[in-house]
Amino acid sequence: MTIEYYRMTKKLEQFLHDHTTPEDPVLEDLFRQTHIRFVNPNMATGHLQGKLLEFLSLMVNPKNILEIGTFTGYSAICLAKGLKAGGKLITIESNDEMSSFSHSYFLRAGMESKIIQITGRAQDIIPSLDQMFDLVYIDGDKREYTEYYRLVTDKVIPGGFILADNILWGGKALETETTDPQARGIISFNEMIRYDTSIEKVIIPLRDGLMLIRKRQ
Ligand SMILES: C[S@@+](CC[C@H](N)C(=O)[O-])C[C@H]1O[C@@H](n2cnc3c(N)ncnc32)[C@H](O)[C@@H]1O
Repeated sequence: MTIEYYRMTKKLEQFLHDHTTPEDPVLEDLFRQTHIRFVNPNMATGHLQGKLLEFLSLMVNPKNILEIGTFTGYSAICLAKGLKAGGKLITIESNDEMSSFSHSYFLRAGMESKIIQITGRAQDIIPSLDQMFDLVYIDGDKREYTEYYRLVTDKVIPGGFILADNILWGGKALETETTDPQARGIISFNEMIRYDTSIEKVIIPLRDGLMLIRKRQ
């Protein structure tokens, strides 16, 4: 059940689009082709949230970004736009079916030297990463968010940021009695974050909810 006050009306959505910089043509094509070629295309970050991710990354201006859940590469391109010169974004995806598609768009976006694609489960890959990150974007399997968070938290610099997508899960995150496994995963994550005093946090209720977490210095 969607929570009424959270539902975006067509009019509001159009207003937000009208007042946001138009979509980059490469991202527009990526989004369209994702909808033609892949199942669950709604997983791709769209224009509004993509622009928000780009702005957040530009504000942080990170040297190293880690993304969990590449899918077809929309959010990776948006986040990589904010990297410092010489900076890198590592993006991890467990499903290898999209890797050549996303790579072709990283090339078209001129990001091939900035984005490092790794195929595998984030839980297996993250422990082997030896650098620290200024910015982490969690957008993998909703049932695994708490695992991802526990694995990345020591790899984020003091003052660094973790962003987590789908924090409202279509409103189900507010229904404490739900048995939906993905909603339960998000609820566990939200509870863990709520009581973690080593961080500061705020939720932006755009699209499906974006949690912004900052590790205290
Ligand atoms: C919501 S989609 C990511 C959307 C992407 N960030 C974008 O903007 O288009 C989630 C992705 O996480 C991947 N995934 C699920 N579990 C994973 C895991 N344990 N490690 C890495 N990727 C995972 C899925 O295969 C799926 O492609």
